[in-house]
Amino acid sequence: MNKTIIGALPGDHNLMNYSELVLNFNFEESIREFYGEAKEANISYHVLEKNISRGLGDKIALYYEGDERQESYTFSQLQRQVNKFANVLDKCGLGKGDRIALFLPRTPELYISFLGAVKKGLVVVPIFEAFMEDAVKERLLDSAAAALVTNADLLARVPKQELPELKTILLTKGGQYQGTLDWHSEVGMASSESGYCPVDREDPLFILYAAGADGQPKGLVHVHGCAPGLWVTANWVHDLKADDVYWCTADPGWITGIAYGFLAPWLHGVTVLVKGGRFDAARWCEVLQKYRVSVWYSAPTAFRMIIAAGKDTYGKYDLNRLRHILSVGEPLTEDVMQWSQAAFGIPIYDTWWMSETGMNMICNFRCLDIKLGSIGKPVPGIKAAVVDDLGNELPPYRIGNLAIKAGWPAMARDVWGNHQKYLEYFRLKPWFISGDAAYMDEDGYFYFQGRVDGIINTAGERVGPWEVEKKLKEHPAVKDAGVAGKPDKIRGEIVKAYIVLNQGFTWSENLAQELRNYVKTGLAAHASPRQFEVKESIPKTPDGKVDRKVLRGWALELGKR
Ligand code: WT7
Repeated sequence: MNKTIIGALPGDHNLMNYSELVLNFNFEESIREFYGEAKEANISYHVLEKNISRGLGDKIALYYEGDERQESYTFSQLQRQVNKFANVLDKCGLGKGDRIALFLPRTPELYISFLGAVKKGLVVVPIFEAFMEDAVKERLLDSAAAALVTNADLLARVPKQELPELKTILLTKGGQYQGTLDWHSEVGMASSESGYCPVDREDPLFILYAAGADGQPKGLVHVHGCAPGLWVTANWVHDLKADDVYWCTADPGWITGIAYGFLAPWLHGVTVLVKGGRFDAARWCEVLQKYRVSVWYSAPTAFRMIIAAGKDTYGKYDLNRLRHILSVGEPLTEDVMQWSQAAFGIPIYDTWWMSETGMNMICNFRCLDIKLGSIGKPVPGIKAAVVDDLGNELPPYRIGNLAIKAGWPAMARDVWGNHQKYLEYFRLKPWFISGDAAYMDEDGYFYFQGRVDGIINTAGERVGPWEVEKKLKEHPAVKDAGVAGKPDKIRGEIVKAYIVLNQGFTWSENLAQELRNYVKTGLAAHASPRQFEVKESIPKTPDGKVDRKVLRGWALELGKR
């Protein structure tokens, strides 16, 4: 098959010889190299103290560009804030193994709280800022979080009376309420010296909830030992160098915003930019210019929205410092690739991975040709394959389950409180079954072919159809509902809902708006259906579940072609 090829980039890359490394590399060695003599497992040590001890204390760790605040922190300044917050947790009687939820907008307090908690051995539960009451409650209950850091606005979505385990609430902004502590005054009073809690590499670091197709979101348990996996991929895939300014645009409510938003670059002592506030094409370009961003990790929807804003917008800024651009989360379409080549003279490097994998898995590399439409090749040390439903490897060009041979450093270690769900990923030993369909070509390049299971990917955000269906069915007008992803030029997919109305209700644009709001205010704005279609019934499988295959056919409008 003839694919357009973009040649390997000339120059000095951290990874120069892919095939040699694939032959010679094993993770055990890099794990030994990463931990070295110190053997300290707490990842907060590796992102702070280790950098300071190698002379990077005065280097900028974090530039924060918010709508109202612009701040910067050196590694030493960040460490002092982290220590202070760690001491606040001590004072509150919180310690190793306790879960602390962070429900915050992208502000420095989020990053400081994350590392302060980790330093004391607590387990962080990130909750994306856009989640509404149902989703927030579910995550706090399931993780039995003992503490929560949020602000007064977001606190309105936290039903405290229904959360018996939640003892400590710290507010970063917006006044004080009974039973809450003020983050800034507590941190202000605390000492800036703190040791870290010794942990094992297999001890939990954070629990990230990821949507599934048929049920509650799963609390993926990630451990301190993810560090070497982030470290090697930041080196080979992101090609990070000491003087880079790195901007990963993802929110830490999603895996990308945690793993590559700050942990991976800080493991290398690289300066990170965090931009608060909403997406805005002109502001994004302005920020790229202002901070002289050199490595940029974002998503196709964001690129497409910048393209849509027009050359009058992005062409106004000097973005010459950009030397490496990466993409994740959804198919990287050809229009985006062409734009990048024309606007910046460099391609965009796609990276495929998941909340479950914890680190980049299949990627395009600077030292390799890119084949348009391919997500690339496995990271050295990773064995990927396309397998049938029995786990047999399929030959090139056959579509099947995208699978990874189990056992890499950043792999999620469990599903919180539901080990059975975790084992389902590994039902075809020795493979981790991703839930994505793919094929491979004769050169070992992989081609993403969509989800197998009905999980929706809208603007790079993962939406579980089951949760949206459950919410819709709570509305008096809705008798039954089935939800699927419908292809969309800008967002990759949009959420489309098929509903059966209860007797006495008639369909109208007003009702559609009401249902949209109902999901938006109960669950999350990004999960709210953009389109509705009224049906006589929702197709079910013999065991009574929504038949996702039929729904997918509806959404693709297969019958209408
Ligand atoms: C799903 C995982 C950790 C990445 C952010 C999303 C889709 C991921 C790509 C890509 C096409 C992609 C897959 C995957 N996906 N990367 N490069 N091209 N699709 O993490 O929320 O856990 O979602 O995102 O379908 O299974 P996530």
